[in-house]
Amino acid sequence: MENAILLGPMKTWTISLEERGRSELNASDQALVDAALAHLPQAHAPYSRFHVAAAIRLEDGQILVGTNQENASYPVGICAERVALSAASSVAPGKAVTAMAVVYAPQGQTSSKPLPPCGMCRQALHEQKTRQNAPLELLMCGVEGPVWKAADASDLLPFAFSGEELP
Ligand code: THU
Repeated sequence: MENAILLGPMKTWTISLEERGRSELNASDQALVDAALAHLPQAHAPYSRFHVAAAIRLEDGQILVGTNQENASYPVGICAERVALSAASSVAPGKAVTAMAVVYAPQGQTSSKPLPPCGMCRQALHEQKTRQNAPLELLMCGVEGPVWKAADASDLLPFAFSGEELP
């Protein structure tokens, strides 16, 4: 590869991502998407007017939900995915997160395209996957339209910082 310094053998990453029609979802994935959709109005997004909801399924089948929570001091705001992950770790510590569904809609509008999580949320999802040492499926969709399903959310952050070297 030109203009690259390789310190060892080249490493490649693959993401297992598939697109499904709404009607092709199994019952538990459908329930997770529905839980996220039902909570979209709970987003506190007066600044961006961009509502996001994330629903998490725990290993025991329990569903927890988070929505984006903004603040007049903009960087204080937190994404829906990290609200949901924090809720899971606080309410059900030690339980694996088997899946997360993320849906969004600009306020007062619909949406029909899947939304991939931001980089900070990918880092948080990566850490959850590492903690539970089991895949965390990620479903992404708009209010309507196709659903993207990643077999493991941590695949969305290749070459991630893992904190292995932290004291
Ligand atoms: N947002 C999320 O909740 N999740 C993401 O993955 C991307 C962005 C929120 C943050 C902010 O409240 C609004 O969407 C606009 O960026």
